[in-house]
Amino acid sequence: MGILAFLARRFIAGEGLDDAVAAIRQLNALNISATVDNLGENVKTKEEATRSADAYLDILDAIGTHKLDANVSVKLTMMGMEIDPDFCYENAGRIVNKAKDMGVFVRIDMEGSPVTQLTLDLMRRFRKDYDQVGIVIQAMLRRSEEDIRLLAEEGVNVRLCKGAYKEPDSIAFPKKEDVNENYIKLAKLLIDGQGKVCLATHDRKMIEPIKAYIEEAKLPKERYEWQMLYGIERDLQKELANQGHNVRVYVPYGSDWLGYYTRRMMERKENFLFAMKHFFGG
Ligand code: FDA
Repeated sequence: MGILAFLARRFIAGEGLDDAVAAIRQLNALNISATVDNLGENVKTKEEATRSADAYLDILDAIGTHKLDANVSVKLTMMGMEIDPDFCYENAGRIVNKAKDMGVFVRIDMEGSPVTQLTLDLMRRFRKDYDQVGIVIQAMLRRSEEDIRLLAEEGVNVRLCKGAYKEPDSIAFPKKEDVNENYIKLAKLLIDGQGKVCLATHDRKMIEPIKAYIEEAKLPKERYEWQMLYGIERDLQKELANQGHNVRVYVPYGSDWLGYYTRRMMERKENFLFAMKHFFGG
């Protein structure tokens, strides 16, 4: 295993579906649910996109066979959205249909701003036939308040995150404080809305005030959950689960881990320094 692959293992369950199953079993034993991500994005051919969707059908089989407490998270650029949105709808539709038969929820991850609207449009197209599909909204984007107001009214299940893609200041808040302030504002709008609220963050500065708002609003447990990434703030994941909150961990696996790993590295300068130290044998 190369040094980079070794370092990436901190954030991914492994390269095979079996690795993901083993990681989910460990989480489920701690009363923590999972959402599975088969790593990869921006595929260039329909054949690749078809193989990507097939991999998700295998994940669904594994969820059924091993009786895992898990759902799936899907990136539409991996399903061919940039090649042809209609093809993507058909291709990802195979996952959505199978998940529907199994009663499994499908989360559509949010990628960079060039595909935000297209991702929302396809999610709404799926929701015409199937309500167990939800979306992700990024607090860093200036447009997100408007999106959240609509989604909260429509009762869509939303995962709220800060946003992991580099975006221009014209469309995204450049300052972290503004992203954080917007995160709390958007979380409150979702809590006051109709759909399930999935709060994806490891930041206690977000968690504490939102927890207080949830208590004040007497939001029933089934209307919200906390979500975190595999390998990050494990103690906090356990702490929230032990307090009786619903907690779900995003479990990525697969060989195409570079894009995901790079985003995790860029989020925190300590990660970058840690990797550099290993590279240069420090
Ligand atoms: P913040 O970055 O401020 O970090 C708060 C604390 O968390 C840090 O101080 C540190 O302790 C810990 N931490 C955070 N990131 C870390 C890292 N990489 N390594 C080590 N420690 C770290 N984004 C997106 O654009 N589209 C999406 O679909 C998703 N999906 C998604 C699902 C789930 C379940 C989660 C938790 C996150 C996402 N994200 C995402 C990523 C998200 O946008 C964001 O980049 C990360 O969650 C980091 O933001 P925090 O809210 O944790 O805050």
